[in-house]
Parts: sequence; structure tokens; C-alpha cells
Amino acid sequence: MATDETKPEARTPYDALGGAPAFRTIVDRFYDLMDSDPAYARLRDMHGTDLAPMRDALASFLGGWAGGPREWFEANPGRCMFSIHGGFPIDAETGGQWAEAMERAIADADIDDRALAGQLSERLSMMARGMARNAQDA
Ligand code: HEM
Repeated sequence: MATDETKPEARTPYDALGGAPAFRTIVDRFYDLMDSDPAYARLRDMHGTDLAPMRDALASFLGGWAGGPREWFEANPGRCMFSIHGGFPIDAETGGQWAEAMERAIADADIDDRALAGQLSERLSMMARGMARNAQDA
């Protein structure tokens, strides 16, 4: 009889993408790019000097969002990702920088299921670009 482990439909995107190590790799590459590529200077300036806490927070958030351990959500009950970002002056340029750095980080990651990696990239890119507001609306 099939167990949950052997049923493909029981696997979460988190598992299929490679679990905690895959999310850590993507997030580390994302912040390395943000920290080193001058194309993301405006986005980098919005963040604190030390990116280490962000590396932990984003890896934990994305893992839980993809069906993995829900540590970030348990540590931040009721906290909404879009509300958190409401205080940041996100415009089309910086939203696009976030999206592009994340697309590159996912493209660089050694993930077997490239179709699922592509979906992750597309969803996150849409969410980041969707956070942009016109300056007069902020
Ligand atoms: C899908 C899109 C995004 C996701 C999933 C995401 C996720 C996160 C997470 C998990 C945190 C940490 C919250 C905490 O634990 O306190 C955070 C903070 C932050 N995010 Fe995002 N974010 C996204 C898009 C963006 C965009 C588009 C920008 C700017 C253009 C941005 C700028 C920031 C900044 C400035 C912080 C605070 C950093 C700091 O305290 O040093 N984020 N984000």
C-alpha cells in the first residue's frame, strides 16, 4: 500500500525543490547578488547593514510558504507580508530589482525540477513587482 512518502501528490513544493538546503542556497545567492551587483544598489540601501538576519528570515518565510516547516509563521503570528512592506518605499524600479535578483538566484540554484523552479521564480517575481506603488500613493 502506498504511503504518504511514495505518493507524488503528497510531496510539497518545498520537498520537491530540495527542502531547507535549496531555500538556503537560493536566499544566500539572492542577498549575495543584492550586496554585490551595483544594479541593485537602491534595493540594497533599503536594507540594514547586516543582511544575516534577513537571510534567516527570508529562507524561513519562503520555506514555510512552499509547504515546509512553519517557523517564520509561528514566530510572526498574523503578520502579513504585504503589510510588513507597506512601510517601505517600493517602486517599479526597486520591485523589479528584487524580482530580477530572485529570478537569477533561482536560475543559478541546482534544482532538479526546473519546471517547478520556474514556477517559483514566476510567482515571486509577480509578488515583488506587485508590491510597487506609485510615489504619490505611498
Ligand atoms: C515576493 C516578494 C517578497 C518577499 C517574499 C519578501 C520577504 C521578506 C521577509 C520575510 C522579510 C523579513 C520580515 C521579518 O521577518 O521581519 C522582508 C523584509 C524586508 N523586505 Fe522583503 N520581500 C519581498 C519583496 C520585497 C521588495 C520588492 C522589497 C523592496 C523593493 C523588499 C524590501 C524589504 C526590506 C527593506 C525589508 C527589511 C529589511 C531589513 O530589516 O533590513 N522586499 N521581506
